[in-house]
Amino acid sequence: MSTNKILSVNNLSTHFALPDGTLKAVDGVSFDVNERQTVGIIGESGCGKSVTAQSIMRIVPKPGQISSGSIEFTKSGQNPTDLVGLEKDGKTIRSIRGGEISMIFQEPLTSLSPVHTVGDQITEMLLLHSTNDQAEAKDIAIDMLDRVGISNPQLRFDELPHQLSGGMRQRAMIAMALSCKPSILIADEPTTALDVTVQAQIIELLQNLQDELGMAIMYITHDLGVICEIADIVHVMYLGKIVESASTKEIFHNPLHPYTRRLLASIPKLGTSGRGTKLDAIRGNVPVPLNLPAQCGFQSRCNEIIDGVCNLKVPSLVDMGNEHYVRCFLHSEEEEKTYA
Ligand SMILES: Nc1ncnc2c1ncn2[C@@H]1O[C@H](COP(=O)(O)OP(=O)(O)O)[C@@H](O)[C@H]1O
Ligand SMILES: [Mg+2]
Repeated sequence: MSTNKILSVNNLSTHFALPDGTLKAVDGVSFDVNERQTVGIIGESGCGKSVTAQSIMRIVPKPGQISSGSIEFTKSGQNPTDLVGLEKDGKTIRSIRGGEISMIFQEPLTSLSPVHTVGDQITEMLLLHSTNDQAEAKDIAIDMLDRVGISNPQLRFDELPHQLSGGMRQRAMIAMALSCKPSILIADEPTTALDVTVQAQIIELLQNLQDELGMAIMYITHDLGVICEIADIVHVMYLGKIVESASTKEIFHNPLHPYTRRLLASIPKLGTSGRGTKLDAIRGNVPVPLNLPAQCGFQSRCNEIIDGVCNLKVPSLVDMGNEHYVRCFLHSEEEEKTYA
């Protein structure tokens, strides 16, 4: 497998200036994505996964703003471009977004317009990024609909998104996202709303298309079971920070952070019937990252808290060897130095 780095997120912070203070949705996140690699981002709702993705796409809604860090995108053979330095909605980011880095969402109607036909939307995307020839764009669009497993693609081409079933709509969104052969696909919980069977089909489809098109995938989910199937490497996010990173195998066999362990314990076991069988749900909720004191983000929910340490200091993300990183005082006394 190639190890060419195509995306490098360095110390990214994305904050929302709210009337009550600064909400630190993403707070010093760093990770890389290599060519053809699948990078999993996992964490419960509210951990900052989507805002990380929005930051890369430069679609963070107001009053959110990238407050520091860089996001270097490297097209093969070219010099890196820092996406953070680009003018929001300027020409360069518009050519990268959809063309080089594409995104799919939990709800297809986030990216598909309800008032335009599926075919028109894919063709428009192709005319923006890939070709000037209308007839060629239509051919590619129909081929893409076919590749994502939509039957009668010629007919579907002229249909509106709501005329398709949920699973087919998801496939149409994937067809649109992949029509310009991006080098990175960001998938933000694309199967969360689907039933288990359709979910498995969509994941298989993404894996096949990844092989075919040679793209990298950044897969965001709260479901470690899905990550196990798809990801090469996993970053566990909690309260805007990465709290553990390792290869997927390492995360499953040697989880170090209490949060990761609890996420693992909440995966339904084989033989139990999928959803609704969370065995050991984590008590409490992810706090809102607003005006938080300097302490471990997980300390309020942790069963292994070291009093006088975890509630008074911010742990640093520490290299435990074997490319396994963890942010937890149970494993290292190192404090986050730059924390203000
Ligand atoms: N548009 C917004 N305005 C204000 N706060 C937001 C906005 N979007 C997200 N947040 C906050 O940022 C934090 C991270 O959110 P998000 O990235 O959506 O989490 P996840 O995708 O992991 O569920 C949460 O506390 C959330 O409430
Ligand atoms: Mg989200």
